[in-house]
Amino acid sequence: MTTQFSVADIELELYRYPAKQESNLQAWDAADEHLIKHLTEQQQTPCCTAIINDNFGAVTCSLTRQNNAWPLLVETDAKTSQLGTLQNLGRNQLPDDNIQWCNSRDLLPQRPELVLMKLPKNLNYLAHQLDRLSQVLAKGTTVYIGAKAKSINKALLQLLKQHLGPATASLTWKKTRVITCISDGTARPLPADTRWNVPEYQLMISNLSNVFAANKLDIGARIMLDNMPQGDFKSIVDLGCGNGILGLRAKQLFPDARLHFVDDSEMAIASARYNWQLNQLDNPDLEGEQACFHWDDCLTHLGDEVRPDLVLCNPPFHQGEAITDHIAWQMFLDALRRLADGGILHVVGNRHLAYHVKLQRIFKNCTTVASNGKFVILQAKKQVNKAKSTD
Ligand SMILES: C[S@@+](CC[C@H](N)C(=O)[O-])C[C@H]1O[C@@H](n2cnc3c(N)ncnc32)[C@H](O)[C@@H]1O
Repeated sequence: MTTQFSVADIELELYRYPAKQESNLQAWDAADEHLIKHLTEQQQTPCCTAIINDNFGAVTCSLTRQNNAWPLLVETDAKTSQLGTLQNLGRNQLPDDNIQWCNSRDLLPQRPELVLMKLPKNLNYLAHQLDRLSQVLAKGTTVYIGAKAKSINKALLQLLKQHLGPATASLTWKKTRVITCISDGTARPLPADTRWNVPEYQLMISNLSNVFAANKLDIGARIMLDNMPQGDFKSIVDLGCGNGILGLRAKQLFPDARLHFVDDSEMAIASARYNWQLNQLDNPDLEGEQACFHWDDCLTHLGDEVRPDLVLCNPPFHQGEAITDHIAWQMFLDALRRLADGGILHVVGNRHLAYHVKLQRIFKNCTTVASNGKFVILQAKKQVNKAKSTD
């Protein structure tokens, strides 16, 4: 894996986040390089610039390297992108006081004069991002979008036109193209969240545009809902919660439990929080806060006082476009670290991912709770620390 980014006289050392991980993935791609090359060829001078979907900060670091006072609005939904960008700025001795961080729900706090964007995989999310831009951009503002050439077609250019303004694509370089889209100055209405029900458990679910399983219940989550663990759980973490479906069901089953919902996606956290209220899950007989919502990379920043007796997890098997099991690894390791002695990690996974091998290695035990042709539900228990208990 290379970490040396070198484009148009800009030299950087870039890592993914977390920097140490069980994967060999690079922190940027050719579309990042193409965007920077394109901008340099245009002899772009510093102006208020929005950077959207910058995976681990390649674009943000490049502009800051060119001019460390370049005013940037950096919009990301992923905590790992924000942490990765900050890590890479620091590693390259670059400041971050030129940056205003923005989420993917609120309108940008200022009107940018230029927008640089990486094309997201989820086109509903793209449409939502463009609609939000259409509400703030002045007519004639240029939006450059870096993407793999194979992702660019007539339908995509039409979608850009429909949601922001006319768009054309550059020639191909390193199998990528840069789209130039010019804002037409017409503000589009923002899309409503999508909603579906799980009637057998009386749950209503609302999803923002970048939330996993936006249109219907995931089949992995379905088998998890049908095979929830048994016990007297008081502190439960829904790790990688998405819209919160697993944690919501857990609260129905264990009304005395306090829940922690954790996700890398800020929209997921907002949806889970909303769904908690929508389903009125607070137990009136229990005092204090019953649900906390954490925008975080796995359990990195969960308070030390939280010692769950149950962690529910339907792990992701990709990060952006890359297929990887390193996040599942990190989730299992974090669960072991944070569980109370005797606490349980309850996991659903695609059979072929062989999570039982990882869980056996990490927890030294693993039980199959249920399975069907495609999915398996596994449970691993944190063994009582004998050294500690005999102290
Ligand atoms: C397979 S989905 C499961 C969502 C939900 N629990 C369900 O069962 O429908 C995996 C979730 O993990 C989240 N995720 C990915 N990387 C993460 C990370 N590093 N830390 C926390 N959550 C992460 C994704 O945003 C996604 O919501």
